[in-house]
Amino acid sequence: MNHDRILVTAALPYANNPLHLGHLAGAYLPADLYVRFQRLKGRDVLFICGSDEHGVAITITADKEHVSPQAVVDRYHAMNRRAFERFGMSFDNYSRTSIPLHHQTTQEFFADFHARGILREKKEQQFYDPVAKKFLPDRYVEGTCPVCGSPDARGDQCEKCGSYLNPLELKEPRSKISGGTPEVRETTHWYFPLGDFQTRLEEYIKDRNTREEWKENVLNYCRGWFKDGLKDRAVTRDLDWGVRVPVAGYEQKVVYVWFDAVLGYITSTREWAAGKGTPEDWKKYWLSGQTKYVAFIGKDNVVFHCIVFPAMLMAWNDAHGEKYVLPANVPANEFFNYEGQKFSKSRGWGINVDDFLDRFPADPLRYYLTMTLPEYRDSDFTWKEFQAKNNNELADIFGNFINRTLAFAVRTFQGTVPPRGTLDARDTEMLELAARTPATAGALMEGYHFRDGLAEVMNLARAANKYFNDSEPWKTAKSDPARCATTINVCTQVARTLAVVMCPFTPATSERLWGMLQLTGTVTSQNWDTAGTPMIPDGHVLGTPGILVTKIEDEVIAAELGKLDQPAEPAAAPAVPAQEPPKPTITFDDFKKVDLRVATIVAAERVTKSEKLLKLQVEIGPERRQIVAGIAQHYAPEALVGKSIIVVYNLAPAKLMGQESQGMLLAASDASGKLAFVTPSGDIASGGIVK
Ligand code: MF3
Ligand code: ZN
Repeated sequence: MNHDRILVTAALPYANNPLHLGHLAGAYLPADLYVRFQRLKGRDVLFICGSDEHGVAITITADKEHVSPQAVVDRYHAMNRRAFERFGMSFDNYSRTSIPLHHQTTQEFFADFHARGILREKKEQQFYDPVAKKFLPDRYVEGTCPVCGSPDARGDQCEKCGSYLNPLELKEPRSKISGGTPEVRETTHWYFPLGDFQTRLEEYIKDRNTREEWKENVLNYCRGWFKDGLKDRAVTRDLDWGVRVPVAGYEQKVVYVWFDAVLGYITSTREWAAGKGTPEDWKKYWLSGQTKYVAFIGKDNVVFHCIVFPAMLMAWNDAHGEKYVLPANVPANEFFNYEGQKFSKSRGWGINVDDFLDRFPADPLRYYLTMTLPEYRDSDFTWKEFQAKNNNELADIFGNFINRTLAFAVRTFQGTVPPRGTLDARDTEMLELAARTPATAGALMEGYHFRDGLAEVMNLARAANKYFNDSEPWKTAKSDPARCATTINVCTQVARTLAVVMCPFTPATSERLWGMLQLTGTVTSQNWDTAGTPMIPDGHVLGTPGILVTKIEDEVIAAELGKLDQPAEPAAAPAVPAQEPPKPTITFDDFKKVDLRVATIVAAERVTKSEKLLKLQVEIGPERRQIVAGIAQHYAPEALVGKSIIVVYNLAPAKLMGQESQGMLLAASDASGKLAFVTPSGDIASGGIVK
């Protein structure tokens, strides 16, 4: 089938976190490369995204920040939308799931499934908070992990040992809302019968995989799920925030966030069509057998896009004349890490898109990320490689070829494209490579091999530099002016080719190059397939050349590396009330678990490359220990020697900036940011017990 209409979606990011580079490399950049490429191919592409604004991810952030869920999603929706724009994402629509239209889409599906008897009602035992008078979703219960004994396991998972849990398994459960002990009560939820769709889902994936090869990692995840056997999935939750369940008697519950999130793609398309004044146009993309639908995601979303969403669409299609298109492919990437470790907001590890783009333009980042995409296995951002890719490839190969070509035309041909005379073998070879590159790179892009596609494009730039060198126009300028003119003519034609085929990867740079070449229209309105055909007429007047790609200095990278040891600033938090809310009440037995002792500081020094950390040697009775503490901005190391402090004696050792810390010192801080360590008010020997 010839798909002239392509629908592309990129996973809707949760609006409770700023986007970081890992998000871009996982789903968004590949999606944008694909879309920009397809648009240049002249295809009718629609690119859809938006914010995922429901679920416990949002309400937990709201609780933590003491603001409403709506305030959280308003802030992050605006922030993420802008970060995407700065990065050059070319969405046709960026919607959000808290809008009424989306509630309508979701309720249509839910009510339809319910009315047709597809959903199953199940009674179950669930924790209930008698103080808050609410059933508690998994993440709202905490307690002791039945597997490893960690006291802070969440109802759905223990972060310490990674075990997936059922909240009822927790020992000493406590409600995150009131802090009290929850009761077990009976409640009912609606389930989607995923198991009933297993055979059809297996066939669906097999079928799509024969039309175009799916990625092995994605197929593997699916095989795993099929092997375990698909189970019914609850599609309602006990939350106040979300799409209300449109069934009488269930008004207190909301639709499970994943059920609504995937439908957000449809809502976003409906919103796009309505915005254009042609509200029915969304159907051209979703309800037409002619559409090819590609869903870009990170690997953690595979089950929802390859299994849950297709099953939901099948369930709908079974009873309706107009049928939704199912994904033709779900090209999921693996994870992208930051300098060897997972991005982590809580540990302050990583860099946000906005912060990055405050310091560097988007295109070097797009170039570097494309060359490093975790297409087959996890990959890693490093500042050194980012600098090397920008300086040694983007600037030295692509930028350099453009600069020398345009500078030469200005110097020798008064800024015009000199006439093309007779072609020799070298000229022909150069032009042939340019003519072939859109097809070779394009085939790779079509198959989601973006890194290889860019490598083909860069081969053309590399060959063009070599062509310039070998042709020695600085010599032929005197000895054979017609030859020199031909060389520069060919170089200018190739520069145009590069502007077009680089455009998906470095759109702003391509547009700038287009301006320097003084070509009509915009680079994005060119055609990929004819990008290799020489089109610039003899005598064409060029624009003013400028530096196309700026190099990144060593000092700039050194400064970024220097920041690695300091936890990043917490993401733009709203004004938090000065008074912290109380933590849940603990029993005396809980308190007794903490072993606090008096210690004397015998030596203190800064931790190299860290602004915040001091390394302390302390005496606790007869014992010597090293403690690393984040107090360097408050105390000079010399001033600390001889002081008595209180330490948590039985805290599990940890490494901070590569330094072992065997305990933690107690300090108090106030809303102004001041900090003071805690000390016994009288003379107590080190090793003394605090109780
Ligand atoms: N918000 C989810 C995440 O960040 C992704 C949702 S993709 C959707 O992991 F399509 F289902 F919305
Ligand atoms: Zn555990």
